[in-house]
Amino acid sequence: MEVIIRPGADAAAGLVARIIAKELRANPHLVLGLATGRTMETVYRLLRQMHRKERLDFSLCRTFNLDEYVGLPSNHPGSYRFYMNRHLFQKVNMDLRNTHLPDGLARDLDAECARYESLIAKAGGIDLQLLGIGQDGHIGFNEPLSALRSRTRVKMLTPTTIQQNAPLFGGSSKVPRRAVTMGVGTILECRRLLLLATGREKADIVAKAVEGPITSMISATSLQLHHRCTVVVDEAAAGQLQGAVYYRWIFANEPEWAEFRKS
Ligand code: F6R
Repeated sequence: MEVIIRPGADAAAGLVARIIAKELRANPHLVLGLATGRTMETVYRLLRQMHRKERLDFSLCRTFNLDEYVGLPSNHPGSYRFYMNRHLFQKVNMDLRNTHLPDGLARDLDAECARYESLIAKAGGIDLQLLGIGQDGHIGFNEPLSALRSRTRVKMLTPTTIQQNAPLFGGSSKVPRRAVTMGVGTILECRRLLLLATGREKADIVAKAVEGPITSMISATSLQLHHRCTVVVDEAAAGQLQGAVYYRWIFANEPEWAEFRKS
């Protein structure tokens, strides 16, 4: 695992957007795993900008989102399909037929989860998976005690997650209680993982995820098992990292990061 610390939230999101753009330019057929949430909004704004100003091409890439709420139609403003259409899919030259999210309205949710797994497999697996982190340490909606080998399935959200997402629904009572999410095992099979966390309220959970013991109580600790995981944080979210001096040293000196040091 590598941890990159950038001065502020915009710089951190900017680095993540540039890593995605680099991978997409190297492989226009990229299979890209996507996340939603407030942290990602800047990443998608920057990708839209790169599409407009630098002709970043999304026409051949395929996408798989981590999760979707159970019970929300795609035109509900709280649904992740709605979020993705608004922040990215309809603003770049993405073929909507190449964009995938679990169907939270499926009558047979177990069958839907199996279908989603097989779609990912048919696409040849995910090349690059974007991740955020919840205040309870979830990645996707893998809430505490998600098995480290779990696959796409329905999870009950924690009260913390419901509170975290309440402002987007106009109150916690309106937040769906369940979601379909890729499992921890599904995420760990992606070829590259890229997690973005910003803000002081993420500092404690970022330190636990990166430097704490691996435990299914905090799904993000499983990322320590992945062979190619980059965690990008701003100074505020890095506030409780023990190894920050070393992480800064790596970013300043590692040749792989030279092209990303300019901003
Ligand atoms: C959503 C998802 C979640 C969020 C996490 C952080 O698709 O995968 O794990 O990334 O809850 O959300 P924000 O960015 O709103 O703090």
